[in-house]
Order: sequence, then C-alpha cells, then structure tokens
Amino acid sequence: MNLQINSQSYQVNSDGDTPLLWIIRDELGLTGTKYGCGLAQCGACSVLVDGEVVRSCVTPLDSVVGRQITTIEAIENDPVGKRVVTAWVKHQVPQCGYCQSGQVVAATALLKETPNPSDEEIAAAMINLCRCGTYNSIKAAVKDLSSKEGETL
Ligand code: FES
Ligand code: FES
Repeated sequence: MNLQINSQSYQVNSDGDTPLLWIIRDELGLTGTKYGCGLAQCGACSVLVDGEVVRSCVTPLDSVVGRQITTIEAIENDPVGKRVVTAWVKHQVPQCGYCQSGQVVAATALLKETPNPSDEEIAAAMINLCRCGTYNSIKAAVKDLSSKEGETL
C-alpha cells in the first residue's frame, strides 16, 4: 500500500492492521516519533493525519492510506508547527525529551484548529503524558503562542 508521509510517497508491504508507528519507526527510520506504552495511553507516538492528532501505536495502516501523515521530522514545514517549536525552545520545555515530539504534534494540531484556545481547551487537548512533569512549561508555551497569533515569537 502507498503512504503519504511528510509529503513523500512510500510503498509499504505490510498487513493492513499493522500499527502505523511500527512502519514509521522500523521501516522508514523516522525515529523522532516515540514508542511509549503501545496502548494509546501516553501520546508519545502522536502524529498528524490530515491535520488531526492520532496515536500511531493503535492506528492501523489501512486507515491512513491516501491521507496526509505528518511526523515530527516535518512539523516545522507547517507554519504553525514551526511557531510551536520556536515556543518550545523559548520556554525550554523539554527535560529528557522523550515525550516531546508527541507534545509538539499535539500543540500543533490544537493551534491549527483553535488559534486562540482557552485554558480549558488547552487542558483538554494537551493530554499526553510527561514523566518529567513539563506540564507547566507546555501550558506556558501554548498560551504564549495563542496570545500571539500570526506573530513571530
Ligand atoms: S505509544 Fe502510543 S499512546 Fe503511548
Ligand atoms: S520531557 Fe521527559 S517524559 Fe516528557
């Protein structure tokens, strides 16, 4: 089957029920997307599919054929994703970093859909787990972005 990932076309010969994460990491070598729980619980494996955040560890391949998949490697090609990364650096969000590609992907999806989210909307969207407890920095970075819609940080 054919997958569109980061604006490139990939031919993949795997069963349709293979989790997308397995292909992204093990076959295509896009290792910025992380394996955490494998159970749709932590969000480390988050990617965008047609602009919506999905947990790739439980997303079967056959559900994403013909759709646009974006991983952390290409997130800065999106203007919103680029601003998110800039804010993450400004606020020094990452600690160990393991969860952060998923956090950046989740923030990008939120801000593309809702450029000026309320605290409640941020809390509802930013639900990926972080063992290092960077939640306050994540919230500060997202709020910084939401108050500066369209501006360069
Ligand atoms: S690895 Fe997918 S949600 Fe944890
Ligand atoms: S920065 Fe370490 S798990 Fe989130």
